[in-house]
Amino acid sequence: MRRLRVGLLGVGVVGGSVARALTQKREQLNAAAGAELVLTRAVVRDPTKARDVPKNLLGTDAEALVRADDVDLVVELMGGEEPCRTLIDTALTHGKHVVTANKRVLAWHGDALFAKAAAKNVALRYEAAVCGGLPVIAPLADDLAANAIRELRGIINGTTNFIVTAMAAGGSYADTLAEAQRRGFAEADPTADVEGIDAADKLAILVRLAFGAAITPQKIFREGIAKLEARDIALGRELGYTLKLLGTARLAATGVEARVHPVFLPTSHPLARVDGALNAVQVVGDLCGPIMFSGQGAGGDATASAVLADIIHVARGALNTTRATRDLPILPMGETRTRCYFRIAVDDVPGVFAKITQVLADHAIGLASVLQREPPQAGSAEIVLLTYSAPESAHAAATADLEKLSCTRAVMARIRVDAPDEHRHA
Ligand code: HSE
Repeated sequence: MRRLRVGLLGVGVVGGSVARALTQKREQLNAAAGAELVLTRAVVRDPTKARDVPKNLLGTDAEALVRADDVDLVVELMGGEEPCRTLIDTALTHGKHVVTANKRVLAWHGDALFAKAAAKNVALRYEAAVCGGLPVIAPLADDLAANAIRELRGIINGTTNFIVTAMAAGGSYADTLAEAQRRGFAEADPTADVEGIDAADKLAILVRLAFGAAITPQKIFREGIAKLEARDIALGRELGYTLKLLGTARLAATGVEARVHPVFLPTSHPLARVDGALNAVQVVGDLCGPIMFSGQGAGGDATASAVLADIIHVARGALNTTRATRDLPILPMGETRTRCYFRIAVDDVPGVFAKITQVLADHAIGLASVLQREPPQAGSAEIVLLTYSAPESAHAAATADLEKLSCTRAVMARIRVDAPDEHRHA
């Protein structure tokens, strides 16, 4: 049987699962690969810690591993931009296949690395970089290759989905973030998750693959969940919507929309039912229609499932999971169209409602529904509005004008709504 010699960079949670499976599931994996998969080297920071790799294979020299004669395929699971980008580049230069879970490197440097892999006729595969155990990269590159992808939206960050799910049950942002940290979903510094940075990296990878657009994450509009209030999630629920942090991309007439922000989805939408730390991606193709992938977006064994599948694909002779890029601009956020939910604190005096609706009319924004309750305390009131579809630039300008009204105490929330205008009339 042919041999494929694997070198492993990083033996943490995912690397440990990969190494264990290569031993414990050897027969099944070799049969699937049609080759003998042999772990020949592994690099870790501290080789004295207990590992799932035999001691004689362990070392600390990553530079040596990516050049080693006894390695055909490098599995990079260290994470972070550098030295990983350089190590992947060096491995490709030396004619080695690369399998990586590194979303940061692929989101920011993917085009150059794919070009290098193609020039060297070696594989650069990254199923584990987006949504851990969900197969979404290979399906987009291979199984859906006959489709023009029209839309893609996903819950592509498990930490924030855990938080917004718990907030929907009434928890505050601070309490549910602390709970996510206790359970090990959220990092001690949760910035990359809660500000949508992790999601924007993943969305950039998906947009490049699904639409063939040249994109890096700085072109993606990004708004996180740190300012969300449980009150808005509850009010949205009353109006028939569930809140999610989504990565959304859509093919428009003049380019592609790509954005990460909190979204109200109709409660009947398949993504609205994906709760807790799970991930899900919905893809709409011109031939296949809507398809949804859902499951565990993180975790050792789930992510190892994706890494091992990539190794098997390479052993079978499959190279890169990418589409050729084309000249397709990423649209400025102002040009995207959405509906919006507003919650506005106002003075409880006659004529306020007329002034607010006039601002929306001035910006050609239609009003779909309105919620106002008798206020619990004299003097102030709260108005909740749901608009029809309008450009982001109009919604942003209307928000600024609403804030300027003398009767407005504060625009407490503006949350974009992903639903067709006819949703509530269906
Ligand atoms: N921090 C990520 C998440 C997992 O919460 O989904 C790794 O991508």
